[in-house]
Amino acid sequence: MSMNSFGHLFRVTTWGESHGPALGATVDGCPPGVPVDAAMLQQWLDRRKPGQNKYTTQRREPDEVEILSGVFEGQTTGTPVQLMIRNTDQRSKDYSEIMDKFRPGHADITYWQKYGIRDYRGGGRSSARETAARVAAGGLARAALAVLVPGVQIKGYMTCMGAHEIDRGRFDWDQIDENPFWTPDAQAAQDWAVYLDDLRKSGNSVGAVIEVVARGVPAGLGAPVYGKIDTDLAAAMMSINAVKGVEIGEGMSAAMLTGDHNADEITMGPDGPEYSSNHAGGVLGGITTGQDVVVRFAVKPTSSILTPRKTITKSGEATEIVTKGRHDPCVGIRAVPVGEAMMVCVILDHLLLHRGQVGENRGQIG
Ligand SMILES: Cc1cc2nc3c(=O)[nH]c(=O)nc-3n(C[C@H](O)[C@H](O)[C@H](O)COP(=O)(O)O)c2cc1C
Repeated sequence: MSMNSFGHLFRVTTWGESHGPALGATVDGCPPGVPVDAAMLQQWLDRRKPGQNKYTTQRREPDEVEILSGVFEGQTTGTPVQLMIRNTDQRSKDYSEIMDKFRPGHADITYWQKYGIRDYRGGGRSSARETAARVAAGGLARAALAVLVPGVQIKGYMTCMGAHEIDRGRFDWDQIDENPFWTPDAQAAQDWAVYLDDLRKSGNSVGAVIEVVARGVPAGLGAPVYGKIDTDLAAAMMSINAVKGVEIGEGMSAAMLTGDHNADEITMGPDGPEYSSNHAGGVLGGITTGQDVVVRFAVKPTSSILTPRKTITKSGEATEIVTKGRHDPCVGIRAVPVGEAMMVCVILDHLLLHRGQVGENRGQIG
């Protein structure tokens, strides 16, 4: 069983636990000749790593990626690329209290029920530290995409923190990298800073919505019926820790629209088909239209909070737990680069599948 892998041709397998010596990703199927080095991958890991500002956990994890195989003289060789990140800031004592208790909202109880053994330190395999490995693999996928389809841009940002939504009228792409929340709304960033600061000081946490957009994706990626690109995107996003909902394009709101509003009208433009809107999120019948591919996911509030919570021990006794240790007040912030990485991997994977089966698009328009 390969439950730790995703992707068809660009196949990513992640391994490791949060308090083991290291974790990483084995990427099989990366095309040869892609220029890549550790520094190129590191730039993406630095966006996810903890301790960047006071709104993320103060754990000090440098998250330095090492490339152990599959790259020779600065280029991929077409053989498996082994990416490794050493764990260096493990404070196992922070977790000794939870050895026999199940933390509410965490996978402690289900891993125990299923396997009867678990690495309780920091959540072990269920820890979101695993997402560092995905981001490293996503960096490699970005490098490959840049060679194969240079125009593709993939960007994630936060659209909602708790009940506080951005104002789409103030949407500014250039703002995304300018604030700690990766939000395109500068005013929201200011408001959220005050809100999250209060929440953090009171030891509480909040959820978030993240949107990831892929621009410049060619028409034709994805396949019927079980190979839909939106199926793979949804699975990829849902596999991220703490994600409880995924939408493509209009998503759940499509149910509230009428057909004349929802079906994006098509006209012929100078360079091919143009659409009047993008309720479809860039995907029709599981195949990309050439419009922006738009995915949104909801991240639940951090479960490890300072408020005492009721739980039980392994022997079934009632107890209480206060999760000490260093935790994000809004894990959605650090989920942004993770969502981007998953989008890049899925897009590249489908590009490779498309090249293998079809090559150039066969249906010409105009
Ligand atoms: C980037 C990232 C960082 C996270 N950091 C924390 C954290 O510091 N504390 C916490 O309680 N949960 C954190 N989580 C969420 C837990 O890993 C997750 O809720 C837990 O493993 C249970 O899995 P589930 O929520 O997917 O069911 C984080 C999630 C992500 C995506």
